[in-house]
Amino acid sequence: MKLIFQGAEAKIYLDEGKIIKERVSKSYREEELDNFLRKSRTRKEAKLLSDVKRVGLKVPILFETEQFRLEMEFIDGIKLRNSLDKTNCGRFCRKIGEDVSKMHLADIIHGDLTTSNIIVKNNEICFIDFGLGVETKSMEQKAADLLNLYQNFKSVHYEFDCWEYFLEGYKNEETSKFWRFLRKC
Ligand SMILES: Nc1ncnc2c1ncn2[C@@H]1O[C@H](COP(=O)(O)OP(=O)(O)O)[C@@H](O)[C@H]1O
Ligand SMILES: [Mg+2]
Repeated sequence: MKLIFQGAEAKIYLDEGKIIKERVSKSYREEELDNFLRKSRTRKEAKLLSDVKRVGLKVPILFETEQFRLEMEFIDGIKLRNSLDKTNCGRFCRKIGEDVSKMHLADIIHGDLTTSNIIVKNNEICFIDFGLGVETKSMEQKAADLLNLYQNFKSVHYEFDCWEYFLEGYKNEETSKFWRFLRKC
């Protein structure tokens, strides 16, 4: 088992073609709250992974769920953050728009939409990291999801027209209320 990533909340191990995401305890948090947060985020991430898959999007297959740990498919690709360029930007960002519109219409909020949480494998995009996701009809939360991605595009990928391409995929009659709401914010 090899540690491949250590983030603020979780350690990510690669083990025989599987990813193990273990939410580590945070000493600055009171123990009961820490356990509650780690458990609820693990449970939520597992639920959202299966719900998003049901909507038809590409996410890692979930193999096992424990209290603080998930075992899932290893997506052997490259983070979109490191692979987005002038030539593929239109296609990928339009597809992200289509996929996020499907998520939002199913009342699923990703919670941390950035190009670091999207992996490209075989020219297909795969969403990861649903630990901050929620299921809600709230337009504010859908708009907040969009705002997060907008800021990521404008700060990290400022040289490309990601947002414009994204909206081409995201905009349709059913989602118009979400992005119009964002424009008012
Ligand atoms: N299923 C997966 N397949 C491939 N790499 C993954 C997978 N899950 C996580 N990773 C890698 O680990 C990193 C951190 O995982 P992530 O779920 O985004 O946790 P964090 O909440 O710490 O950002 C990702 O950016 C990615 O590089
Ligand atoms: Mg992440």
